Amino acid sequence: MDRCGRCKNEKTPLFKMSRLNSLLCSSCFEDYYERKVKNTVLKYGMLNGVNKLAIAASGGKDSMALLKVFSELFPHIKFAVIHLNLGIPGHSDECIKVVEKFCIENSIELLVYDLKKYHGYTIGDLSNLKNNKRICGVCGIVKRHLMNKVAYENGFDTLATGHNLDDVVEILFNLYLNGNVEEMSRIKPVAPSMNPKLIRKIKPLIEVTDQEDLYYVISKNLDYASSECPLIKGSRMVERKNLILRIEEEIPNFRYRFLKTHLKRFLPILKEHSQPITLRECDVCSMPSVGSICSFCKLSSRILNWVENA
Ligand code: AMP
Ligand code: FES
Ligand code: ZN
Repeated sequence: MDRCGRCKNEKTPLFKMSRLNSLLCSSCFEDYYERKVKNTVLKYGMLNGVNKLAIAASGGKDSMALLKVFSELFPHIKFAVIHLNLGIPGHSDECIKVVEKFCIENSIELLVYDLKKYHGYTIGDLSNLKNNKRICGVCGIVKRHLMNKVAYENGFDTLATGHNLDDVVEILFNLYLNGNVEEMSRIKPVAPSMNPKLIRKIKPLIEVTDQEDLYYVISKNLDYASSECPLIKGSRMVERKNLILRIEEEIPNFRYRFLKTHLKRFLPILKEHSQPITLRECDVCSMPSVGSICSFCKLSSRILNWVENA
């Protein structure tokens, strides 16, 4: 009979922990996960000086795990939830339902921002484009801009996202591969605000894995959007995540070591050599931008063009 590697009980369900190379029962696993997240939040001072916190929740396993673990660990800290309705057929409706249900059941304020309503297109519209490998990148620009905008316009000073270790290592892997030094220096557990309109961002799940987030929502019996984003299939992002898991089979703890090396060895050097970026206001949306028009507004007008001519 299988036993929990910690308490030695034969309780079910038992989770196969690839990082610990052992099995854990539900209560030992929850204890492990919550300690890990708490340790991350405290170690990086994520809640220092926070007055008004928002959590960006897509309805997927990571952000639902984040909402739950945060409520468990810091019950005295009030937060609101931001959800972007991206209009992805067969996916977005389920996502919004899951987030709404959690917020109603836990009396949490929910702000829903509808991409179609305010910008005239959906991410679903992009599925007709020829080069669908790029959709996730395009969608990423839209999400980053809108999450920040909604948080800023509603007076939040900190925005937490559900990016986990797999997400961050995948992003870093690609940036290192392409030598994108500027972007690399922005990948960290806490991204301070560089401009009054750029909200401070925190990643409380940066040290837990995809698998651990999934186990946590299962163990806590939480609803999460079971449908995967249909546009993600065949994307380079998924290919890279799978490649990284294969590397981890050969180099144990590869993801964590990669993150640590980035934070401890490279970030200080990158910081020393990086030039401060001068930001101005975008002529279209008045949010911070390097050029006269921000990347989101440039992209939005291109997308509207594509959609109209598709
Ligand atoms: P992803 O870019 O899909 O890996 O998501 C990373 C994080 O961004 C999630 O854990 C959420 O915190 C946030 N996020 C992604 N999509 C949405 C969405 N539609 N609404 C709100 N937050 C989102
Ligand atoms: Fe962005 Fe699927 S959620 S491409
Ligand atoms: Zn703009």
